[in-house]
Amino acid sequence: MTGIFISFEGIDGAGKSTHIEALAQAFREQGRALVLTREPGGTPLSEQLRALALNEAMDPLTEALLMFAARREHLVQVIEPALARGDVVLCDRFTDATFAYQGGGRGFDRSVLAQLEQWVQQRVDGGLRQPDLTILFDIAPAVAAARLSTARVPDKFESQSQAFFQRVADGYDARASGEPARFARVQADQPREAVWRDVLAAIRGKGWLA
Ligand code: TYD
Repeated sequence: MTGIFISFEGIDGAGKSTHIEALAQAFREQGRALVLTREPGGTPLSEQLRALALNEAMDPLTEALLMFAARREHLVQVIEPALARGDVVLCDRFTDATFAYQGGGRGFDRSVLAQLEQWVQQRVDGGLRQPDLTILFDIAPAVAAARLSTARVPDKFESQSQAFFQRVADGYDARASGEPARFARVQADQPREAVWRDVLAAIRGKGWLA
């Protein structure tokens, strides 16, 4: 069996978490070995980098480098070995988030991010590691903000303005338009069951779940 790498993206408040959990359950029920992970994070060191990146104010390049440093560890320690074993890897955010948040939200130079992407995601065969499928939860920043306001204490990103999240959403749009075959866009402001139906349809469309 070949491994399957699926990432989940969207602005804060898009509501991806419950669907990632449900999808993990659906794959397990079909007997697939599965790794459920997240970025930044997924290894002890990457989780430490996450705590820094999400809670400390820092220079935009420092922030981008921390995201990619965490990603490199995560790829080497967790994602590549899992894919080599034939596991399903469900990853809550991956590199598209860096293009959306650091590139779009912060306005950081995307050509620098593209270079880092090439270095960090280089596979042993020389190719570029990307998810096989990226599910993008689409939602208007105002709707997402209303959802977040009732949730927990906001971290550094969650407390950003709606204008910031509009730039993040535009950043995701640009990535999705650039690689339409890799992305499945799901309308995230529907009732939860409808969102779940669309998530399942995207996975089934690839022939990965019965
Ligand atoms: P998130 O995935 O929303 O997790 P939780 O639901 O536990 O809050 O939080 C991760 C935050 O990190 C989110 O605000 C987006 C941000 N982020 C970046 O800015 N760049 C990145 O490359 C990644 C992976 C995440």
